Amino acid sequence: MKIAVFAGDGIGPEVTGEAVRVLEALGLPGLALTYGDVGGAAWRRHGHPLPEETLAMARASDAILFGAVGDFACDHLERHLRPEQAILGLRKQLGLFANLRPAKMFAGMEDASALRPEISGAIDLLIIRELNGDVYFGEKGVRTLDDGRRQGWDLMSYAEDEVRRIAHVGFRAAMGRRKMLCSVDKANVLETSQLWRDVVIEVAAEYPEVTLSHMYVDNAAMQLVRNPGQFDVIVTGNLFGDILSDQASMCVGSIGLLASAALAEGSMGLYEPIHGSAPDIAGKGLANPMAAILSAAMMLRHSFDLEAPAARIEAAVAEVLRAGIRGADLGGSHGCRAIGDAVLARL
Ligand code: IPM
Ligand code: MG
Repeated sequence: MKIAVFAGDGIGPEVTGEAVRVLEALGLPGLALTYGDVGGAAWRRHGHPLPEETLAMARASDAILFGAVGDFACDHLERHLRPEQAILGLRKQLGLFANLRPAKMFAGMEDASALRPEISGAIDLLIIRELNGDVYFGEKGVRTLDDGRRQGWDLMSYAEDEVRRIAHVGFRAAMGRRKMLCSVDKANVLETSQLWRDVVIEVAAEYPEVTLSHMYVDNAAMQLVRNPGQFDVIVTGNLFGDILSDQASMCVGSIGLLASAALAEGSMGLYEPIHGSAPDIAGKGLANPMAAILSAAMMLRHSFDLEAPAARIEAAVAEVLRAGIRGADLGGSHGCRAIGDAVLARL
């Protein structure tokens, strides 16, 4: 179990530290952790957010535990040197195209949701976000028009094979759950989305048991707060998935609770909280490490096929929440270390 740990910027090191403590406490045979630099931290030390040695370490590993990247001090840098390029580069270089972002209401957490308890109580959904294409990786730039005005531009595109492979991930996930798949697009305006929809419909023929629906992204954003219980699996493109998953996090209480997996074709995966580096609270011990800890659980499940210890971690986190131990993100007073301690105690 060779795991590369890339803690990154801001609260990344704090929350990843707690996830590592949890992993080590399980006493799994063969666990071997190596540490590498990413993001603004890597830029400071090596002049690049994703140094060659970090990428090599990632390639030599079975899975990656990732913290967060983002640093205001780097906002003036050319785009290819900004911290975010670390995560985008890893996703692309390692072919991590399928992003699983589950959002499930933990028992007793209904009051923390931004939604009324009778609405939030039913949330158990999985957002599957395509991670290697879309406007994220298209050509982009700023050009000067003939009349002298500056114009920013980013190309949105999806090739059919890219849509097909993420659609399969969506349908397979739905088969293992409540057998409902909602494909989210903007086919009423975008050609990229019309092709997306056409291809998803083609793939659906291979999964007759799954009920497929389609939703425009604006409506999906609305339905996520109106009636999130209607969703089982959502499959969508890179940009829409980025936005909807942040929104889903507040529906279940806090972005500090949402873990994610970015998977390649085989067993390789990168596991990270969906939250960012939160520079405002970095280094203060205030961050909630639960999303990082739950990301470690996803790693055991998806890259190492270790369902039992993954479920143990998730049960421990659920118990801690049930006991009313909460971080500041959930209106509580427990710090990062204290929450890690509480999870370890339950384990
Ligand atoms: C996420 C983040 C990243 C993204 C940023 C840090 C580049 O928001 O993982 O959701 O946009 O994908
Ligand atoms: Mg995001």
